[in-house]
Amino acid sequence: MTVSPRSTLITGIGQLVTNDPAAGPGILGTIDHAAIVIEGGTIAWIGPEREAPTADESLNVAGHAVLPGWVDSHTHLVFAGDRAAEFTARMAGEPYQAGGMRASVEATRATDDETLAQLVTDRIADMHAAGTTCIETKTGYGLTVPDEARGARIAAQAGVDEVTFLGAHVVPIEYDDDRGAYLDLVCGPMLDAVKGEARWIDVFCETGAFDEAESRRVLAAGRAAGLGLRVHGNQLGPGPGVRLAVELGAASVDHCTYLSDADIDALASGSTVATLLPATDLSTRQPPAPGRRLADAGAPIALATNCNPGTSYTASMPLVIALAVLQCGLTTAEAVHAATAGGARALRRDDVGVLKVGARADVQVIDAPSIDHIAYRVGGVGARAVWRAGRRVA
Ligand code: NIG
Repeated sequence: MTVSPRSTLITGIGQLVTNDPAAGPGILGTIDHAAIVIEGGTIAWIGPEREAPTADESLNVAGHAVLPGWVDSHTHLVFAGDRAAEFTARMAGEPYQAGGMRASVEATRATDDETLAQLVTDRIADMHAAGTTCIETKTGYGLTVPDEARGARIAAQAGVDEVTFLGAHVVPIEYDDDRGAYLDLVCGPMLDAVKGEARWIDVFCETGAFDEAESRRVLAAGRAAGLGLRVHGNQLGPGPGVRLAVELGAASVDHCTYLSDADIDALASGSTVATLLPATDLSTRQPPAPGRRLADAGAPIALATNCNPGTSYTASMPLVIALAVLQCGLTTAEAVHAATAGGARALRRDDVGVLKVGARADVQVIDAPSIDHIAYRVGGVGARAVWRAGRRVA
C-alpha cells in the first residue's frame, strides 16, 4: 500500500500563478522562483524557493509552470451515448437545434445505473488528467423524477464538487402537448427528489427550450427550495437569459454568445458571472462570445468546457482557454484567470481557483514553462502532475 506523504514541497517552478493579488503582480498574482508546500488537503506554505521549509517529500518540476487546478464550472457529464451523426450533419449544414438533446435523454434513460456511473467516473478521471480539479455538473438528460434523481445521485457519488439540477433542460417528448404539466413536475416532485444532492438549479432559457416566464417559474421554485441560481442564456440568439439572471442575482449566466450592450452593462454592474463556453460556439458554428467586450466593461468572466454530447464533447480546459484567447479576444492572463478564479467565483467558492495558504490544495504542473504556451500551442499543453485536495490524481 502506498502511503501519501503528509507534506510535499514543490520546487523548480518556472512560473507560479497564485490568483492572489497580495502575492504578486497582475490579476494572476504571479511569483518567480517560488516554492509551494502541500500538506494534508491544503496549501501550507508559498514563498521564495530559497526560504522554503522542508517537507516529507519534495518534487523539482524542472522549470514547468504551476497553477491552480482548472475550475470547470459548467459541464453535463451524466449522459450515455453520443451524437456524432448529429455533429456530422451539422457540419454539413444542418442547424443546431436544442431538440437533439432528446436523443441523449433516450440513451441515458436506457442505461443501467452501474454503466452510467462508470461513464461519469471515467469522464472525471479524464478531466483530472487534464488539470481540472473542481467540477460542476448538471442533471438534465433524465427528465423524469427517478432519472433526474439518479443523475444527481450518480454525480454526487462520483465526486463532482457541485451538482446542478437541470430538469428544465428541454421538455421531454412525452410532455410535448402539455408543457405546463412538465413544469409542474420540475418545480414540484423532481425538485424535491434532487435537492439533497443539488446545490444549484439551472434553466435553459432559449427559444426552443424555456421562455422567460417559464424560466422565472423554475428559478423561483429552486430558490424557494434553497438552491442557488444558474441560467443558460443567450446561446443561440439574443434573448432574456442574461437580463433575467442578473435581475435574480444568479451566480452565473452561461454561454453569453449573443449579448446586447444592455446585457453587457448589466453583467458589468451586477454580481452574476458571465461564463463563456467557447468550445460550444466552435462546435455549433456560432460566432465567438464577446469576451473582449465583457472584459473591457469590467464584467466578471468564467470559462468552462460545457462538456456534453451535443454541443461540446470536450473536457479540455486548455482548449477552452486557447479558444477564449484566439477567438473571444481575451488575453492569456485573462483567460487563465477566468478558467480558475473566474470559475470559482461562478460557483461562489473561495477555496479553489487560488493558491494561497489555507486554500484547497488543487494544484497542477503544466507541460510548459509559462501560461503563454496554452494558447500558443492551441490547447496542446497538458498537465504533468495534478493534486486535488492534496491528493495526487494525475
Ligand atoms: O449547453 N444549452 C443547453 N445544453 C447544452 C446542450 C446539450 C445538448 O445539445 O445535448 C449546451 O449546449
